[in-house]
Amino acid sequence: MSAVFSAPPEQWNAPPALAFRAFSEADVLKVAAIEADVYVFPWSAGNFRDSLFSGYRCIGAWVDKELVSYAVVMTALDEAHLLNLAVAKDWQQRGVGALMLTHIIEELKAIPLEMIYLEVRPSNLAGRRLYERFGFKQLGMRPDYYPALAGREDALFLGLNIVPGLNIAPTKNT
Ligand SMILES: CC(C)(COP(=O)(O)OP(=O)(O)OC[C@H]1O[C@@H](n2cnc3c(N)ncnc32)[C@H](O)[C@@H]1OP(=O)(O)O)[C@@H](O)C(=O)NCCC(=O)NCCS
Repeated sequence: MSAVFSAPPEQWNAPPALAFRAFSEADVLKVAAIEADVYVFPWSAGNFRDSLFSGYRCIGAWVDKELVSYAVVMTALDEAHLLNLAVAKDWQQRGVGALMLTHIIEELKAIPLEMIYLEVRPSNLAGRRLYERFGFKQLGMRPDYYPALAGREDALFLGLNIVPGLNIAPTKNT
């Protein structure tokens, strides 16, 4: 069974229908505009171009013609590293992040890969909650990993086992 997000709790509004495809050089300025809107320390357009050039998986999600979410994933051997995942501000809190993460996990399981790793700021409660709902576990801490408004911020280092056959469905904590 695969990761699914088809049956959210009844009190939620229906999440939008997303079309997923790789994003390309032609999308970079739109990606970078969302990035600048949602992060205090955003990647530059050049960082996204470098990701494309490096062959990282650059995934976008669209509602009609509007880019609403994107992710950058580096893969090596049987592992993946989720380097970036964001949802445009107007589309947050509607299940898009969970749908995007479900799609990413499906893509990576199909390769097949066995583990996904990522870093997240301890202060990023939305990100931490999203990853927690998918079963990511803290594997370590990277001291002074991120720039911060005052000095540096540590990173939580998280991992999720995605061995094919495992059912990875987000859970809703109360
Ligand atoms: C972290 C991030 C990707 C989450 O994206 P999102 O689309 O808002 O996430 P979701 O909507 O799937 O879930 C977030 C919350 O919305 C709620 N929600 C989900 N679907 C919903 C729906 N259809 N209707 C109403 N609420 C919903 C969930 O309850 C969840 O809240 P919770 O904390 O109670 O679990 C987004 O906040 C973001 O882009 N942040 C900036 C970039 C960032 O920090 N990225 C992560 C870096 S590690």
